[in-house]
Amino acid sequence: MIGFYSDWESFFVLSKVKTSAKLVKEGKLSYEWAKSHMAILNNTISRLKKSKPLKGVTLGFCLHITKETSVLLMGAKELGATVACCGGNPLTTQDNIAAFLASQGIHVYAWHGQSVKEYDWCIQQVLNHKPTILTDDGADMNVKAHFDKKYKDLPILGATEETTAGVTRIRAVENQGKLRYPVILVNEAYTKHMFDNRYGTGQSTIDGYLRAMNLLLASKRTVVVGYGWVGRGVASRCHGMGSKIIVTEVDPVKALEAHMDGFEVMPMAQACKIGDIFITCTGMTSVIRKEHIMQMKEGAIMGNVGHFDVEIDAEFLLKKSKSVKEVRPNLDECVLKNGRRVYLIGQGRLANLVAAEGHPPEVMAQSFSNQILSIMYILKNHKKIGNKIITVPEEIDRQVAVDALKAMDVKMDKLTPEQVKYMNSW
Ligand SMILES: NC(=O)c1ccc[n+]([C@@H]2O[C@H](COP(=O)([O-])OP(=O)(O)OC[C@H]3O[C@@H](n4cnc5c(N)ncnc54)[C@H](O)[C@@H]3O)[C@@H](O)[C@H]2O)c1
Repeated sequence: MIGFYSDWESFFVLSKVKTSAKLVKEGKLSYEWAKSHMAILNNTISRLKKSKPLKGVTLGFCLHITKETSVLLMGAKELGATVACCGGNPLTTQDNIAAFLASQGIHVYAWHGQSVKEYDWCIQQVLNHKPTILTDDGADMNVKAHFDKKYKDLPILGATEETTAGVTRIRAVENQGKLRYPVILVNEAYTKHMFDNRYGTGQSTIDGYLRAMNLLLASKRTVVVGYGWVGRGVASRCHGMGSKIIVTEVDPVKALEAHMDGFEVMPMAQACKIGDIFITCTGMTSVIRKEHIMQMKEGAIMGNVGHFDVEIDAEFLLKKSKSVKEVRPNLDECVLKNGRRVYLIGQGRLANLVAAEGHPPEVMAQSFSNQILSIMYILKNHKKIGNKIITVPEEIDRQVAVDALKAMDVKMDKLTPEQVKYMNSW
């Protein structure tokens, strides 16, 4: 079924995305390229696929539709699952991947450049497949499954959550006592956030910013907003490219860490006046506001890599500026009322996915191995877990690390019997 325009009536613009043979071929090449660099995930799938453990199971995915995601989805199909998916954001779907997946019998409801209404419609289409397990990135699908009356009786066994922003939201559902199935927080696995959030976002943010602006990073003052896993990765990569890094933080420990890592730390009220490039990485709302934007230098460039488009006041930039012009793909020039020109990447949505292709495959192989193994874990243990949130079981996390080392041909040491004895002697 070519899901993304099978029963879409009023909004879908057929001329924008066609499942043309050309698009499918491009998507297939991208899928193959990613797959050939995702040994960890391939090995996990190969280990499991003989017994088709997901036969009879429908999986509903709400993930950025990238080449790496296509390897996960095709892998789930190989394990026997029926797969339905939608994008994790209105602007992050790669159409050739959506077309390729649709050509492979996966139910796809995703295309690049959706309105918020269209995005919501796509989530509903996936839920209409009555998925057994949901895999979410940002919790939009889980929130709908919990709070939209239409879906309150869906017999969902459990769900997994990919990102920090989704973890925050699903924890809020649990705190309200409203969680109605178990959720595994894949983001909390060491082999996920320490690598995907840090190295994956670090590299793909540079990629997105460079594609959007193609300016020199060396010599620029780059303001990294938030020094969590994503912020650390972004700061160290930009530093490596020669930028002078300024960090803004609200957590004293993280601010101290940034300071000791050799970066300047200051409040946004100060940073906004001297920064050349701004990268928001907080998962928090309104970290770059109107009063900051109005004080920025001529030519300042802003973008966001936090999950939601709430970190920069994009509405002020795009609606209240004297003029707005797209000067390069994914780069809007906004002429402010004070006459200064400032720039916004990807309308304030995930710059690394909107202006580039998201994380490289090697790192997504780790995240998605955690996903597949967590899906299997839910299938076997959902009754035991109950309506609770859990982190990825340690044995899965460690298995992914072992697989990753093996895939990269890295050998490590083992404790000697004497060392084990010493450790246990206290
Ligand atoms: N773009 C991507 O591909 C991608 C990948 C992974 C995660 N994410 C998203 O990136 C965001 C950050 O994720 P993370 O794992 O780094 O989270 P994190 O919790 O490790 O870090 C967030 C940091 O932001 C800081 N912060 C909060 N409010 C702030 C403010 N007003 N000013 C300055 N700093 C502030 C926090 O103190 C914290 O240190 C989340 O929304 C997450 O979902 C995006």
